Amino acid sequence: MAAATPQVERAAKGAKNSAALAFLRAPKQLLINGKWQPAKSGKTFETINPANEEVLALIAEGDKADVDEAVKAARKAFEEGAWPKMSPHQRARLMFKIADTIDQHADELAELETLDNGKPLTFSRNFDIPAVAETFRYYAGWVTKIYGETNPSDPSFFNYTLREPVGVCGQIIPWNFPLLMAAWKLGPALACGNTCILKPAEQTPLTALRLGELLMEAGLPPGVVNIITGFGPGAGSAIAEHPDIDKVAFTGSTEVGKIILKASAGNLKKVSLELGGKAPNIIFPDADLDQAVPTAMMGVYFNSGQVCCAGTRIFVQRDRYDEIVEKLANFSKNVKVGDPFEQGNLLGPVVSREQFDRVKGYLSIGAEEGAKAAAGGAPVEGKGYFIQPTLFADVNNNMKIAREEIFGPVGAAIAFKDENDVVFQGNDTTYGLSAGIWTKDVGRAHKMARALKAGTVWINCFNQIDPIAPFGGYKQSGFGRELGKYAIDLYTQVKSVWMKLS
Ligand code: NAI
Ligand code: MG
Repeated sequence: MAAATPQVERAAKGAKNSAALAFLRAPKQLLINGKWQPAKSGKTFETINPANEEVLALIAEGDKADVDEAVKAARKAFEEGAWPKMSPHQRARLMFKIADTIDQHADELAELETLDNGKPLTFSRNFDIPAVAETFRYYAGWVTKIYGETNPSDPSFFNYTLREPVGVCGQIIPWNFPLLMAAWKLGPALACGNTCILKPAEQTPLTALRLGELLMEAGLPPGVVNIITGFGPGAGSAIAEHPDIDKVAFTGSTEVGKIILKASAGNLKKVSLELGGKAPNIIFPDADLDQAVPTAMMGVYFNSGQVCCAGTRIFVQRDRYDEIVEKLANFSKNVKVGDPFEQGNLLGPVVSREQFDRVKGYLSIGAEEGAKAAAGGAPVEGKGYFIQPTLFADVNNNMKIAREEIFGPVGAAIAFKDENDVVFQGNDTTYGLSAGIWTKDVGRAHKMARALKAGTVWINCFNQIDPIAPFGGYKQSGFGRELGKYAIDLYTQVKSVWMKLS
């Protein structure tokens, strides 16, 4: 099917930034070895504005042939290029410059993110893009602080370790925080001296492509970052299977995480996986409800619920259940959904038709399972993939809506009896990415933090994320920890050097 020429003015309604609009009009190609080129197949695909269902741009559809070429470029840049061998000071300076460049283009990047993903501009401008710059800046700081060790060997020997880059890294990212996920992957990989092939999600390729241009302008050597847009089964699987990629980092569904792990076995790539979640957020009756209620509900609705660590199972103690659920529902009814460019809207659309249909499916499942929609419960009529913020009450932890990741603005309020019961129910899930606890009892808070099987536990807060702190999952939420010093482990390997002294 021949793709229609995008009508940028119509598709990008609400966008004001002239650089963003100019970028939308320019061709979108693949970045390989520092040059932009079309896919070898000549194919393109459409990227859609989920707020109005219009085509924003045509994107090159990279596949195996393009990935092969990108891997050659990345391999050459790694084995022969300046990047891994550069003085750490110089590499750090370049990464600081990248962070500054992102700040300078923040308005433009924020508008592109909002157009492609649908998230309110307030969030892309005040959360996503600043966090992208901070992530590069944080890892720029690490470049000069990646230490080996001197080990207590027998005195007739000298033993020390070197931390070396892993090599060529394939990085496959999702569409919920498109540019931030690119930064979580590229930041630490580049800091450690690796070279990369980044595959953005097919729903949201725009900001990664613009970042590619900014990286080149900042002076990153050719081949250090290559960007291949395309689909999972074409470009993504070619990365996961590639015999000359040393490491693959993936954020996305648990289903695809398992496929990637299997594919990586061919050459035993190192793998890190950041997958789904179904986080418990536990409100004890002694909590400060004025804080707990809005924060817990925004822990479900933020980014239209398309957050792997969203606190979608809200646990409320049985003897106060009706009263607290009423407060949660009242807050939910006042959360504004609509045009992501309009101030005051806390929710935009979900990212795609596919996601819209999936979430709608869960709204029906919830009703069929006997849960009661205490707020919302339906999509918003009209153009765009908007869904009402929904809180299901009378949910039990065995219902599908309490077990499966919905990835939409849909929460489930579940009753619990006491601490033991809520630890059991909270941990009764295949996932383990995050958990929340609301209480003023300090002892209980720390006891619960130990008991919950999750990679991140938030006490009297939620969705607190910062490059200083590790992030990743227990159980089927994946393995490996991104961010903090832990990402340095993901992107280096340790060499032990022995020398005989006498
Ligand atoms: P997905 O896991 O299919 O997509 C994520 C990335 O993986 C995209 O770049 C995609 O192109 C790529 N991919 C897909 N199939 C692949 C394959 N066979 N080999 C290599 N790469 C592949 O996620 P999707 O289908 O967009 O969303 C489905 C569900 O996944 C959501 O409803 C949500 O529950 C979950 N999800 C979780 C995310 C997280 O942050 N943990 C992010 C996105 C989705
Ligand atoms: Mg998929």
